[in-house]
Order: sequence, then C-alpha cells, then structure tokens
Amino acid sequence: TKQKLWGGRFTGKTDPLMHAFNQSLRYDQRMYAVDIKGSIAYAKSLTRVGILTPEEEKKITDGLRSVLKEWQDGQFQVQLDDEDIHTANERRLSELIGPLGGKLHTGRSRNDQVATDMRLWLLEEALDIEAGLKALIRVMVERADKEKDIILPGYTHLQRGQPIRWAHLLLSHAFSFSSDLQRLQQLIPRVSVSPLGCGALAGNPFVVDREFLAKELGFQSVAENSLWGVGDRDFVVEFLMWSSLAMTHISRMAEDLIIYSTAEFGFVTLSDAYSTGSSIMPQKKNPDSLELLRGKSGRVFGNMAGFLTTLKGLPSTYNKDLQEDKEPLFDAVDTISASLQIAEGVISTLEVHAEKMRQALTMDVLATDLADYLVRKGIPFRETHHISGRAVAMAESRKCQLNELTVEDFKSLNSNFSDDIHDVFDFEASVERRESIGGTSRKMVDRQIATQNLTMARD
Ligand code: ARG
Repeated sequence: TKQKLWGGRFTGKTDPLMHAFNQSLRYDQRMYAVDIKGSIAYAKSLTRVGILTPEEEKKITDGLRSVLKEWQDGQFQVQLDDEDIHTANERRLSELIGPLGGKLHTGRSRNDQVATDMRLWLLEEALDIEAGLKALIRVMVERADKEKDIILPGYTHLQRGQPIRWAHLLLSHAFSFSSDLQRLQQLIPRVSVSPLGCGALAGNPFVVDREFLAKELGFQSVAENSLWGVGDRDFVVEFLMWSSLAMTHISRMAEDLIIYSTAEFGFVTLSDAYSTGSSIMPQKKNPDSLELLRGKSGRVFGNMAGFLTTLKGLPSTYNKDLQEDKEPLFDAVDTISASLQIAEGVISTLEVHAEKMRQALTMDVLATDLADYLVRKGIPFRETHHISGRAVAMAESRKCQLNELTVEDFKSLNSNFSDDIHDVFDFEASVERRESIGGTSRKMVDRQIATQNLTMARD
C-alpha cells in the first residue's frame, strides 16, 4: 500500500478506525477549488525565489488545473489513504506530473495551507450571503413601500399597545437585517488576512514574498505573526457569532409571522409554497417554513458554542483540534444561506389581511392619544394618563368602546374635555401624529425606506 505523505518516521500502520477518525476529506473536499488556487499562487512564489524553474512551475500549475477540472467534472477519484483535501490534491498532482509534484510543498505546511483555504472559502461564501441578505431586505422594503396604508395594532408584551403602520413593523425587521449587513461587511477585513507563507509555525525559510501571495489570492492583508497565522481561528468564531445574531433576527421575525398567521390573529396567510399539511388533521396548514427559520437558530448557536469550546483551551499555533472548525462553519454557512432564501420567499409571497388588522384595532389602543389630548390642553401627562385610564375603566364597566362614551361622560372625568374629543378616535390620525424621526407616520416610514435603500446601495 502507498505511503502516507508524512509516513517517513512511521513504521507501524494507522489503525483503520483512527484513519476514519482523523480524515476530514469527507467534508473539507468542498474547499477543493480554493485549495488549488492557493497552490497555484504558492507555486508562482516558489519560482520567484528560484525553487522552481518557470518550466517546473508551468507543469505544476497545469497539473493543478487538471486536478481542479477532475473535481469540477465529478471525476476526482478519492483514495482510501487520502486524509484531507490538501493531501488528496497533492497525491493526485504527483500521479499526474510525477515526482516534480513533490516540490510544491517546499516551505509550506498544511497548517498555513488550511488556514488559507478556510479564509478564502469563507470570503467567497460571505459574498453570496451578503447578496442573500440584500435580496431579503429588498423584498421587505418593497412590501413596506406598497403596503403603507395598512394599519394594525402594535404590541408590547403581546398586548395591544398603539396603532402602527404594517410597513413600520416590516421595516423594523429590515433594520435588524441591515445592521447584520453592516456587521458582515465589517468582519471581512479580519477574514481577509493571508496566512500563506507562515509555514508550519515559525515562518518561511525560502523567503517567499508573502505580500505577492496575498495579492495573488485577493487578500487585503498579510498575517504579521506566523504563530498567530496558523493558530488563529477568530475569523471562524466571528462568523459564527455573526450568523448567530443574524439567525436571531430571522427567528424573531418568524415568530411574529407565526403568531399573525394563527386563526386567532388572522393577519397574514403563508403561501402554500412555504407551508405543509398534517398527516392526520385535514384542515391544517402549518407554517413549517417559519418554524424552521425559528428553530434553525438553535443549531447555529450550537455551532458557535461548540467551536468556542474547542478553541478555548488550545496551546499556541496549530493543533489537530482546529480541524473541528470546519463542520460548524460549513453548517452555519449552509443554514444561514438557506434561511435567507426561505425568508425572502416567505415574505415575498405572504398574503396580508388588511381588514383583519383593522378589526384588531380596538379603541383602547388610542388611550395614549386620549391622554395626549389633555396634555395639549396644558395638563401634566401623569394626570392625563390617570384620567384616560379612568375613561378606559368607564367604557369597560359599560361594556362599550372608548369612543362610545359621550362628551358629557368625558367632561365628568375632566372639565378640559370638549366637543372635539371624538377627533381623537381616528387610527390614521394617531399614526400620522408620530412624525418625529423613527415614528410610524407616512412621512417617517418613507424616510425609513429611503434609509434602507441607501444602506443597500452602499457596498
Ligand atoms: N485537515 C487538517 C485541518 O483541517 C489540515 C491541517 C493538518 N495539519 C497537520 N499538521 N496535521 O486542520
């Protein structure tokens, strides 16, 4: 049987279970393209310091491109002894071009190689995630723009509070997502650091040009300390933290919509495309998409907590524990990518029942406005709050709505009430009064839409 790449000092064989336990190719093969990209850049850097002749470099890079093509065409034959994507690619390269393939790894270690691959891979994925996030925000903003007229009760403690525009609520979630967008953009410079040329841990003795390597690979900067370069996985943790927070926002939005889609609320209907039925109860239409958006946050938090736990006790530089960075990262990337797409689909196909929202607007949600009415007549708010509360109690005891009390009823509570009191009982007027920045008036909702559009236009 063939020798392992590191087999020189070994006489005994690897236990088959140990081989399976150790091998990461099963999941790290998804980094095949960036692994080859890194190797092509590295071959170029070796030519520049005279380790490879230009002809050798060409043979190596042509060989690497053939390996890449095999992966792309689904032709790459994984061998039993392949340990990870790095050893698999190098093994195949040497099969294709012979012993010259063995020159590629000069001065390089899988330690700087894997850190390079992970960073490059995440940078590419982050671009897709950024696009997914923008697409989600876009459908939310478009909806908000079209549905500005719809008014519903805004809730605190899930109790009806004050009237708000539906667009205002949608935009509140969009603001969470646009802060996620900014946070994602801000973590990129910390991912975009090149470890290539750090070697195993101490640095590169053939003095390859690390700035050249970084530039070839599109990194923004170079890891300035080789021990840190091979041992750091903060970029993985930071992305897992980012995903956890973004999933929290997706989950909270999903929860709003789950509640609103119950028959008891009836504010929204999920499209069939994002619902499922029950195997026993024929009438059921369940909001599974939303429940999964809420539920999948848990696994992303788990990835974050799990990998932080792996990391926290490690001594400096590379330890094999670091191989455990991959599955949590890959899973978080897959989960957030899918969640963003599903959320976008759910929001863009959601049916909104303006009439149901309107029916939920009971007059008591204008009790604050009633108190404000007296404030405008010069009475301190603490008193007007109390007076309005008594009006609510009066309506309650008479089993009528607040606006069904007569002017005389109001006057019996406070002499400052006058004939214009019934103007208060107008939901549209109530939302329109909230016209300072951030308020739910039409003008301020338009302002929020403009802010969102600006954020999205920024790169
Ligand atoms: N598969 C390994 C990982 O993912 C690559 C680095 C292995 N380096 C080593 N010295 N064993 O971390």
